[in-house]
Amino acid sequence: MACTAPKKVCIVGSGNWGSAIAKIVGTNALRQKHIDDRVTMYVYEEMINGKKLTEIINEQHENVKYLPGHKLPPNVVAVPDVVDAAKDADILVFVIPHQFIRTLCSTLLGKIKPNAIALSLIKGFDRAEGGGIDLISHIITRHLKIPCAVLMGANLANEVADENFCETTIGCKDVRFGPLLRDIIQTDYFRVVVVDDEDTVEVCGALKNIVACGAGFVDGLGLGDNTKAAVIRLGLMEMVKFVDVFYPGGKLSTFFESCGVADLITTCYGGRNRKVSEAFVKTGKSIKELEDEMLNGQKLQGPFTAEEVNYMLKNKSMEDKFPLFTAIHKICTGQLRPAGFIDCIRNHPEHMVKNPETESI
Ligand SMILES: NC(=O)c1ccc[n+]([C@@H]2O[C@H](COP(=O)([O-])OP(=O)(O)OC[C@H]3O[C@@H](n4cnc5c(N)ncnc54)[C@H](O)[C@@H]3O)[C@@H](O)[C@H]2O)c1
Repeated sequence: MACTAPKKVCIVGSGNWGSAIAKIVGTNALRQKHIDDRVTMYVYEEMINGKKLTEIINEQHENVKYLPGHKLPPNVVAVPDVVDAAKDADILVFVIPHQFIRTLCSTLLGKIKPNAIALSLIKGFDRAEGGGIDLISHIITRHLKIPCAVLMGANLANEVADENFCETTIGCKDVRFGPLLRDIIQTDYFRVVVVDDEDTVEVCGALKNIVACGAGFVDGLGLGDNTKAAVIRLGLMEMVKFVDVFYPGGKLSTFFESCGVADLITTCYGGRNRKVSEAFVKTGKSIKELEDEMLNGQKLQGPFTAEEVNYMLKNKSMEDKFPLFTAIHKICTGQLRPAGFIDCIRNHPEHMVKNPETESI
Protein backbone atom coordinates (compact mmCIF):
# COMPACT_ATOMS: atom_id res chain seq x y z
CA MET A 1 0.00 0.00 0.00
CA ALA A 2 1.35 3.43 -0.96
CA CYS A 3 2.11 5.51 2.10
CA THR A 4 0.64 9.01 1.93
CA ALA A 5 3.21 11.78 2.27
CA PRO A 6 2.37 14.54 4.75
CA LYS A 7 0.38 17.32 3.12
CA LYS A 8 2.28 20.53 2.39
CA VAL A 9 0.54 23.82 3.10
CA CYS A 10 1.27 27.23 1.59
CA ILE A 11 -0.28 30.42 2.95
CA VAL A 12 -0.69 32.81 0.03
CA GLY A 13 -0.66 36.17 1.81
CA SER A 14 0.87 37.67 4.91
CA GLY A 15 -1.22 40.65 6.01
CA ASN A 16 -2.95 40.93 9.37
CA TRP A 17 -5.18 37.87 8.86
CA GLY A 18 -2.65 35.97 6.76
CA SER A 19 -0.09 36.19 9.56
CA ALA A 20 -2.60 35.21 12.26
CA ILE A 21 -3.65 32.16 10.25
CA ALA A 22 0.00 31.27 9.55
CA LYS A 23 0.53 31.12 13.31
CA ILE A 24 -2.34 28.60 13.61
CA VAL A 25 -1.41 26.48 10.59
CA GLY A 26 2.28 26.45 11.58
CA THR A 27 1.42 25.25 15.08
CA ASN A 28 -0.98 22.57 13.78
CA ALA A 29 1.63 21.37 11.26
CA LEU A 30 4.07 20.64 14.08
CA ARG A 31 1.41 18.74 16.05
CA GLN A 32 -0.04 16.59 13.28
CA LYS A 33 1.84 13.86 11.42
CA HIS A 34 -0.26 14.08 8.25
CA ILE A 35 0.72 17.74 7.75
CA ASP A 36 4.24 18.64 6.65
CA ASP A 37 6.18 20.63 9.26
CA ARG A 38 7.38 23.27 6.81
CA VAL A 39 4.66 25.80 6.01
CA THR A 40 5.51 28.37 3.36
CA MET A 41 4.04 31.86 3.46
CA TYR A 42 4.06 34.08 0.38
CA VAL A 43 5.07 37.58 1.46
CA TYR A 44 4.62 40.55 -0.88
CA GLU A 45 8.06 42.03 -0.38
CA GLU A 46 8.35 45.42 1.31
CA MET A 47 11.26 47.27 2.86
CA ILE A 48 10.87 48.03 6.55
CA ASN A 49 13.52 50.42 7.89
CA GLY A 50 15.90 49.39 5.13
CA LYS A 51 15.39 45.63 5.60
CA LYS A 52 13.32 43.13 3.62
CA LEU A 53 10.12 42.02 5.36
CA THR A 54 10.80 38.37 4.44
CA GLU A 55 14.22 38.54 6.15
CA ILE A 56 12.71 40.09 9.25
CA ILE A 57 10.03 37.38 9.42
CA ASN A 58 12.51 34.54 8.91
CA GLU A 59 14.97 35.94 11.48
CA GLN A 60 12.65 37.35 14.16
CA HIS A 61 9.62 35.10 13.44
CA GLU A 62 7.33 38.08 13.58
CA ASN A 63 5.49 40.05 10.90
CA VAL A 64 6.47 43.41 12.39
CA LYS A 65 4.34 45.36 9.93
CA TYR A 66 1.03 43.47 9.79
CA LEU A 67 0.93 41.46 13.04
CA PRO A 68 3.37 43.09 15.45
CA GLY A 69 3.75 41.60 18.90
CA HIS A 70 2.93 38.00 17.91
CA LYS A 71 5.55 35.33 17.27
CA LEU A 72 5.08 32.98 14.33
CA PRO A 73 6.27 29.38 14.74
CA PRO A 74 9.77 28.99 13.21
CA ASN A 75 8.50 26.36 10.74
CA VAL A 76 6.56 29.12 8.94
CA VAL A 77 8.94 30.25 6.22
CA ALA A 78 8.44 33.61 4.47
CA VAL A 79 9.02 33.40 0.70
CA PRO A 80 8.94 36.50 -1.56
CA ASP A 81 8.24 34.57 -4.80
CA VAL A 82 4.68 33.21 -4.92
CA VAL A 83 5.57 30.38 -7.33
CA ASP A 84 8.43 29.22 -5.07
CA ALA A 85 6.10 29.34 -2.09
CA ALA A 86 3.22 27.47 -3.75
CA LYS A 87 4.71 25.02 -6.26
CA ASP A 88 4.95 21.97 -3.94
CA ALA A 89 1.85 22.65 -1.87
CA ASP A 90 -1.10 20.27 -1.56
CA ILE A 91 -3.21 22.92 0.15
CA LEU A 92 -3.11 26.59 -0.84
CA VAL A 93 -4.62 28.97 1.70
CA PHE A 94 -5.46 32.23 -0.08
CA VAL A 95 -5.52 35.25 2.23
CA ILE A 96 -4.75 38.44 0.32
CA PRO A 97 -6.94 41.49 -0.34
CA HIS A 98 -9.27 40.45 -3.16
CA GLN A 99 -8.06 43.06 -5.63
CA PHE A 100 -4.81 41.10 -6.14
CA ILE A 101 -6.32 37.64 -6.77
CA ARG A 102 -6.48 37.61 -10.57
CA THR A 103 -2.85 38.71 -11.03
CA LEU A 104 -1.74 36.14 -8.51
CA CYS A 105 -3.72 33.35 -10.16
CA SER A 106 -2.21 34.13 -13.57
CA THR A 107 1.26 33.98 -12.02
CA LEU A 108 0.45 30.59 -10.46
CA LEU A 109 -1.29 29.05 -13.48
CA GLY A 110 0.43 25.80 -14.50
CA LYS A 111 3.02 26.16 -11.71
CA ILE A 112 1.16 24.35 -8.91
CA LYS A 113 0.36 20.68 -8.26
CA PRO A 114 -2.63 19.71 -10.45
CA ASN A 115 -4.29 17.88 -7.56
CA ALA A 116 -3.81 20.68 -5.03
CA ILE A 117 -6.85 22.11 -3.23
CA ALA A 118 -7.49 25.69 -2.17
CA LEU A 119 -9.08 27.35 0.83
CA SER A 120 -9.98 31.01 0.43
CA LEU A 121 -10.13 33.31 3.46
CA ILE A 122 -10.63 36.33 1.22
CA LYS A 123 -13.63 38.49 1.97
CA GLY A 124 -15.08 40.51 -0.87
CA PHE A 125 -16.23 40.08 -4.45
CA ASP A 126 -14.42 40.79 -7.65
CA ARG A 127 -15.84 42.44 -10.75
CA ALA A 128 -16.83 39.80 -13.31
CA GLU A 129 -15.63 40.22 -16.87
CA GLY A 130 -18.62 41.72 -18.67
CA GLY A 131 -20.13 43.12 -15.47
CA GLY A 132 -21.54 41.84 -12.20
CA ILE A 133 -19.70 40.04 -9.44
CA ASP A 134 -17.54 36.98 -9.22
CA LEU A 135 -16.95 35.01 -6.05
CA ILE A 136 -13.25 34.79 -5.25
CA SER A 137 -13.40 31.01 -4.80
CA HIS A 138 -14.94 30.71 -8.28
CA ILE A 139 -12.12 32.81 -9.74
CA ILE A 140 -9.53 30.58 -8.07
CA THR A 141 -11.22 27.40 -9.33
CA ARG A 142 -11.68 28.75 -12.85
CA HIS A 143 -8.14 30.09 -13.21
CA LEU A 144 -6.19 27.38 -11.43
CA LYS A 145 -8.53 24.46 -12.18
CA ILE A 146 -8.52 23.24 -8.58
CA PRO A 147 -11.39 23.00 -6.07
CA CYS A 148 -11.65 25.89 -3.63
CA ALA A 149 -13.40 25.83 -0.24
CA VAL A 150 -13.88 28.98 1.86
CA LEU A 151 -13.38 30.01 5.48
CA MET A 152 -15.26 32.97 6.96
CA GLY A 153 -16.27 33.91 10.49
CA ALA A 154 -16.25 36.38 13.34
CA ASN A 155 -12.48 36.43 13.33
CA LEU A 156 -10.78 39.78 13.89
CA ALA A 157 -7.17 38.84 13.22
CA ASN A 158 -5.59 40.42 16.29
CA GLU A 159 -8.01 38.69 18.65
CA VAL A 160 -7.40 35.32 16.97
CA ALA A 161 -3.65 35.94 17.29
CA ASP A 162 -4.22 36.68 21.00
CA GLU A 163 -5.78 33.18 21.19
CA ASN A 164 -9.12 34.45 22.48
CA PHE A 165 -11.84 31.83 21.96
CA CYS A 166 -13.87 32.16 18.74
CA GLU A 167 -15.56 30.16 16.01
CA THR A 168 -15.25 30.03 12.25
CA THR A 169 -17.12 28.43 9.34
CA ILE A 170 -15.59 26.40 6.52
CA GLY A 171 -17.84 26.11 3.46
CA CYS A 172 -16.77 22.99 1.57
CA LYS A 173 -18.97 21.21 -0.96
CA ASP A 174 -16.67 18.21 -1.34
CA VAL A 175 -16.96 15.95 1.72
CA ARG A 176 -13.52 14.44 1.02
CA PHE A 177 -11.71 17.68 1.89
CA GLY A 178 -13.61 19.00 4.94
CA PRO A 179 -11.79 16.93 7.61
CA LEU A 180 -8.30 17.79 6.29
CA LEU A 181 -9.11 21.50 6.09
CA ARG A 182 -10.48 21.39 9.62
CA ASP A 183 -7.25 19.70 10.80
CA ILE A 184 -5.01 22.49 9.50
CA ILE A 185 -7.20 25.24 10.96
CA GLN A 186 -8.85 24.07 14.20
CA THR A 187 -7.27 24.70 17.61
CA ASP A 188 -8.71 24.65 21.12
CA TYR A 189 -9.39 28.41 20.86
CA PHE A 190 -10.39 28.53 17.18
CA ARG A 191 -13.32 26.18 16.61
CA VAL A 192 -14.41 25.15 13.14
CA VAL A 193 -17.85 24.18 11.81
CA VAL A 194 -17.85 22.72 8.29
CA VAL A 195 -20.97 23.24 6.14
CA ASP A 196 -21.58 22.40 2.49
CA ASP A 197 -23.27 25.73 1.59
CA GLU A 198 -20.03 27.16 0.16
CA ASP A 199 -21.42 30.12 -1.78
CA THR A 200 -23.59 31.46 1.05
CA VAL A 201 -20.62 31.34 3.44
CA GLU A 202 -18.56 33.40 1.01
CA VAL A 203 -21.32 35.87 0.15
CA CYS A 204 -21.86 36.54 3.88
CA GLY A 205 -18.15 37.34 4.26
CA ALA A 206 -18.36 40.01 1.56
CA LEU A 207 -21.74 41.59 2.31
CA LYS A 208 -21.13 42.12 6.02
CA ASN A 209 -18.45 44.69 5.14
CA ILE A 210 -21.12 46.85 3.47
CA VAL A 211 -23.29 46.71 6.58
CA ALA A 212 -20.24 47.60 8.71
CA CYS A 213 -19.92 50.86 6.75
CA GLY A 214 -23.52 51.60 7.73
CA ALA A 215 -22.71 50.86 11.38
CA GLY A 216 -19.76 53.26 11.11
CA PHE A 217 -21.99 56.00 9.69
CA VAL A 218 -24.34 55.53 12.66
CA ASP A 219 -21.38 55.93 15.03
CA GLY A 220 -20.15 58.97 13.13
CA LEU A 221 -23.60 60.54 13.30
CA GLY A 222 -23.77 59.80 17.05
CA LEU A 223 -27.09 57.93 16.74
CA GLY A 224 -26.54 55.30 19.42
CA ASP A 225 -26.97 51.59 19.97
CA ASN A 226 -30.64 51.15 19.03
CA THR A 227 -30.06 52.67 15.60
CA LYS A 228 -26.97 50.58 15.10
CA ALA A 229 -28.90 47.40 16.02
CA ALA A 230 -31.59 48.35 13.47
CA VAL A 231 -28.95 48.87 10.78
CA ILE A 232 -27.38 45.50 11.62
CA ARG A 233 -30.75 43.72 11.49
CA LEU A 234 -31.84 45.36 8.23
CA GLY A 235 -28.40 44.58 6.84
CA LEU A 236 -28.84 40.92 7.75
CA MET A 237 -32.25 40.84 6.05
CA GLU A 238 -30.72 42.33 2.89
CA MET A 239 -27.92 39.74 3.03
CA VAL A 240 -30.51 36.94 3.17
CA LYS A 241 -32.47 38.50 0.31
CA PHE A 242 -29.34 39.00 -1.79
CA VAL A 243 -28.46 35.28 -1.52
CA ASP A 244 -32.05 34.39 -2.33
CA VAL A 245 -32.01 36.49 -5.50
CA PHE A 246 -28.47 35.94 -6.80
CA TYR A 247 -27.40 32.59 -5.29
CA PRO A 248 -30.66 30.63 -5.00
CA GLY A 249 -30.45 27.36 -3.13
CA GLY A 250 -28.55 28.77 -0.13
CA LYS A 251 -29.64 27.66 3.33
CA LEU A 252 -31.07 30.03 5.92
CA SER A 253 -29.25 28.01 8.64
CA THR A 254 -25.89 29.19 7.22
CA PHE A 255 -26.68 32.75 8.36
CA PHE A 256 -26.70 31.44 11.95
CA GLU A 257 -23.15 30.08 11.66
CA SER A 258 -20.12 32.17 12.60
CA CYS A 259 -19.85 33.41 8.98
CA GLY A 260 -23.32 34.97 9.23
CA VAL A 261 -24.74 36.79 12.18
CA ALA A 262 -21.61 36.47 14.37
CA ASP A 263 -19.28 37.96 11.77
CA LEU A 264 -21.78 40.69 11.04
CA ILE A 265 -21.92 41.74 14.69
CA THR A 266 -18.16 41.71 15.25
CA THR A 267 -17.51 43.68 12.05
CA CYS A 268 -20.12 46.28 12.95
CA TYR A 269 -18.45 46.86 16.32
CA GLY A 270 -14.75 46.18 15.85
CA GLY A 271 -13.66 46.12 12.21
CA ARG A 272 -11.75 48.54 10.01
CA ASN A 273 -14.76 49.26 7.74
CA ARG A 274 -16.73 50.55 10.73
CA LYS A 275 -13.78 52.59 11.98
CA VAL A 276 -13.04 54.30 8.67
CA SER A 277 -16.74 54.93 7.98
CA GLU A 278 -17.12 56.65 11.35
CA ALA A 279 -14.14 58.87 10.50
CA PHE A 280 -15.61 59.50 7.03
CA VAL A 281 -18.66 61.11 8.65
CA LYS A 282 -16.70 62.98 11.32
CA THR A 283 -13.87 64.36 9.17
CA GLY A 284 -15.47 64.78 5.73
CA LYS A 285 -12.31 63.29 4.13
CA SER A 286 -12.59 60.80 1.26
CA ILE A 287 -12.53 57.04 1.86
CA LYS A 288 -9.24 56.79 -0.06
CA GLU A 289 -7.60 59.50 2.06
CA LEU A 290 -8.73 57.79 5.26
CA GLU A 291 -7.59 54.36 4.05
CA ASP A 292 -4.12 55.80 3.48
CA GLU A 293 -4.09 57.67 6.80
CA MET A 294 -5.64 55.10 9.12
CA LEU A 295 -4.85 51.62 7.81
CA ASN A 296 -1.06 51.45 7.42
CA GLY A 297 -1.20 49.59 4.08
CA GLN A 298 -4.27 47.50 4.93
CA LYS A 299 -7.14 47.56 2.45
CA LEU A 300 -10.79 48.47 2.94
CA GLN A 301 -13.35 46.07 1.41
CA GLY A 302 -16.77 47.59 2.23
CA PRO A 303 -17.04 50.52 -0.23
CA PHE A 304 -15.68 48.43 -3.12
CA THR A 305 -18.11 45.59 -2.36
CA ALA A 306 -20.98 48.09 -2.09
CA GLU A 307 -20.16 49.33 -5.58
CA GLU A 308 -20.13 45.81 -7.05
CA VAL A 309 -23.39 44.94 -5.34
CA ASN A 310 -24.96 48.16 -6.56
CA TYR A 311 -24.04 47.22 -10.11
CA MET A 312 -25.88 43.89 -9.68
CA LEU A 313 -28.93 45.55 -8.11
CA LYS A 314 -29.15 48.24 -10.78
CA ASN A 315 -29.01 45.60 -13.51
CA LYS A 316 -32.04 43.89 -12.03
CA SER A 317 -33.78 47.20 -11.17
CA MET A 318 -33.74 46.14 -7.54
CA GLU A 319 -32.08 49.09 -5.78
CA ASP A 320 -35.33 49.95 -3.99
CA LYS A 321 -35.57 46.40 -2.56
CA PHE A 322 -32.14 46.90 -0.96
CA PRO A 323 -32.29 50.48 0.39
CA LEU A 324 -29.57 49.95 3.00
CA PHE A 325 -26.96 48.59 0.56
CA THR A 326 -27.96 51.29 -1.93
CA ALA A 327 -27.69 54.18 0.55
CA ILE A 328 -24.29 53.00 1.78
CA HIS A 329 -22.97 52.88 -1.79
CA LYS A 330 -24.32 56.36 -2.50
CA ILE A 331 -22.72 57.78 0.66
CA CYS A 332 -19.34 56.17 -0.05
CA THR A 333 -19.34 57.61 -3.57
CA GLY A 334 -20.50 61.09 -2.53
CA GLN A 335 -23.95 60.87 -4.17
CA LEU A 336 -25.67 61.17 -0.77
CA ARG A 337 -24.69 63.02 2.40
CA PRO A 338 -24.23 60.75 5.46
CA ALA A 339 -26.94 62.74 7.26
CA GLY A 340 -29.43 61.36 4.71
CA PHE A 341 -28.65 57.72 5.60
CA ILE A 342 -31.47 57.03 8.02
CA ASP A 343 -34.12 58.65 5.81
CA CYS A 344 -33.26 56.04 3.16
CA ILE A 345 -34.15 53.15 5.47
CA ARG A 346 -37.19 54.57 7.33
CA ASN A 347 -39.52 52.93 4.81
CA HIS A 348 -37.53 49.73 4.40
CA PRO A 349 -39.43 46.88 2.69
CA GLU A 350 -39.04 45.04 6.03
CA HIS A 351 -41.36 47.65 7.60
CA MET A 352 -44.10 47.27 5.04
CA VAL A 353 -47.13 45.09 5.66
CA LYS A 354 -46.47 41.77 4.00
CA ASN A 355 -48.91 39.49 2.30
CA PRO A 356 -48.05 36.01 3.59
CA GLU A 357 -49.48 34.45 0.45
CA THR A 358 -47.11 36.25 -1.92
CA GLU A 359 -43.93 36.61 0.17
CA SER A 360 -41.27 33.93 -0.37
CA ILE A 361 -38.90 34.75 2.53
N1 LIG B 1 -7.71 41.23 9.14
C1 LIG B 1 -8.75 40.58 9.57
O1 LIG B 1 -9.14 40.66 10.75
C2 LIG B 1 -9.46 39.64 8.63
C3 LIG B 1 -10.26 38.65 9.17
C4 LIG B 1 -10.91 37.79 8.32
C5 LIG B 1 -10.73 37.90 6.93
N2 LIG B 1 -9.93 38.89 6.43
C6 LIG B 1 -9.76 38.95 4.97
O2 LIG B 1 -8.49 38.40 4.64
C7 LIG B 1 -8.00 39.01 3.45
C8 LIG B 1 -6.58 39.50 3.68
O3 LIG B 1 -6.61 40.46 4.69
P1 LIG B 1 -5.37 40.78 5.61
O4 LIG B 1 -5.95 41.43 6.83
O5 LIG B 1 -4.52 39.57 5.81
O6 LIG B 1 -4.54 41.80 4.69
P2 LIG B 1 -4.12 43.31 5.05
O7 LIG B 1 -5.14 44.24 4.52
O8 LIG B 1 -3.73 43.36 6.49
O9 LIG B 1 -2.72 43.51 4.29
C9 LIG B 1 -2.57 43.76 2.96
C10 LIG B 1 -1.68 42.67 2.39
O10 LIG B 1 -1.64 42.83 0.97
C11 LIG B 1 -0.30 42.71 0.54
N3 LIG B 1 -0.14 43.42 -0.71
C12 LIG B 1 -0.03 44.75 -0.92
N4 LIG B 1 0.12 45.01 -2.24
C13 LIG B 1 0.08 43.78 -2.86
C14 LIG B 1 0.17 43.37 -4.21
N5 LIG B 1 0.31 44.24 -5.21
N6 LIG B 1 0.09 42.05 -4.48
C15 LIG B 1 -0.09 41.14 -3.51
N7 LIG B 1 -0.17 41.47 -2.19
C16 LIG B 1 -0.08 42.79 -1.89
C17 LIG B 1 0.50 43.31 1.68
O11 LIG B 1 1.80 42.87 1.62
C18 LIG B 1 -0.25 42.70 2.87
O12 LIG B 1 0.21 41.40 3.13
C19 LIG B 1 -9.01 40.11 3.09
O13 LIG B 1 -9.89 39.62 2.13
C20 LIG B 1 -9.75 40.34 4.38
O14 LIG B 1 -11.07 40.80 4.18
C21 LIG B 1 -9.28 39.74 7.27
